[in-house]
Amino acid sequence: VKGLGERAPDIRLLAFPQLELLARQSLPASVFDFVAGGAGDELSVARNCSAFDQFCLRPRVLRDVSQVSIRTTILGADLSAPIFVCPMGQQALVHAEAEVASATGAARAGVGFILSMGASASLEEVASASSAPRWFQMYYLRDRAIMADLVARAVAAGYSAICLTVDVPVVGFRRRDLVHMANGEFGNNQVFGNFNKYRTNGATRLPLDFIAQGHDLSVTWSDLDWLRAQSDLPIVLKGVMTAEDTRAAVEAGVSAVIVSNHGGRQLDHEQATLEVLSEVASTARDRIAVILDGGVRRPTDIVIALALGADAVSIGRPVLWALAIGGSQGVGDFLNGLVEELRRVLTLLGVANLEQLSQDYVYPRITSQNRHHGAAKRL
Ligand SMILES: Cc1cc2nc3c(=O)[nH]c(=O)nc-3n(C[C@H](O)[C@H](O)[C@H](O)COP(=O)(O)O)c2cc1C
Repeated sequence: VKGLGERAPDIRLLAFPQLELLARQSLPASVFDFVAGGAGDELSVARNCSAFDQFCLRPRVLRDVSQVSIRTTILGADLSAPIFVCPMGQQALVHAEAEVASATGAARAGVGFILSMGASASLEEVASASSAPRWFQMYYLRDRAIMADLVARAVAAGYSAICLTVDVPVVGFRRRDLVHMANGEFGNNQVFGNFNKYRTNGATRLPLDFIAQGHDLSVTWSDLDWLRAQSDLPIVLKGVMTAEDTRAAVEAGVSAVIVSNHGGRQLDHEQATLEVLSEVASTARDRIAVILDGGVRRPTDIVIALALGADAVSIGRPVLWALAIGGSQGVGDFLNGLVEELRRVLTLLGVANLEQLSQDYVYPRITSQNRHHGAAKRL
């Protein structure tokens, strides 16, 4: 990577493209593509990121920014900053210490960690290694006995919310993975730590399509009652992209929604999550928490999402690039850097705490389309 010299890079100094390039150089092509890739023509993947470039920050001056507070509490989780690590399965492909490393890195930065049901490590291994506030992410499985047991295990291991991902009735059409699979380079080395217990023959490996085959495509809003009855944990719904579904989520008694299109890995040709944030946040109207994921790459992206109504953001691929490059240390450095830079951006913006942040701090960027209509309209 140009400009980095011979020394091991300080991850905090890398811009996202450099981080991604370094990770690419250290991973097999099939693993890089599994993480970086998305569904279809990857329009949603690209749009999630480029949506942030449509906005500009609008700073205020001569404010007292001697104390800038970015600590926050989301569903009882006390966080150093409004940041979570997204649930992402199969992290052993990226680094031998897998989710144990990413969770301990998150703990060092004081941000939230969401463990995937499809993780390589088990939820108990992650819990015993990390003190970070953590939630457990699930899919709705046909086998309700396994689901109930997973919830009970999450409660016993100290997870403080169940994050139900609802945008995977089937797995998206991911060209890159399918090409690598056809070449025999991918798909035969997955480990599902959470499911070892349910294997009767002692094998630890499951076919790649295990989770897809196990998913219940018939679930509807009324099935949330069953999940809620399994524990006292709050339920977070991940994969909401519309006002209608936000309203249904509020009515169904969930505690938070994650505005997410699965990082563009499921349905292609969607709007960016940032573009639908306002419609979700204005429907939620502070009755439930709103978290945004997809394309968050820089501290200024986080500020834009918060200003447009998110209570927190969740970060996916960049964390796996940091994991690939530097394991737990790399993830901790990356997230710590983000927390510190978030504080710097708010200081420069003239914002002393997260409550002050509002649409007043964001302009839509002047593009060739809206220039004809005069100056950028205020939101
Ligand atoms: C390699 C990888 C694995 C993922 N696995 C899961 C998963 O097991 N469960 C889930 O809800 N989302 C999963 N996701 C989606 C992320 O939680 C998140 O929605 C997305 O990565 C956010 O976009 P970003 O990567 O642009 O930050 C995965 C994403 C990646 C990149």
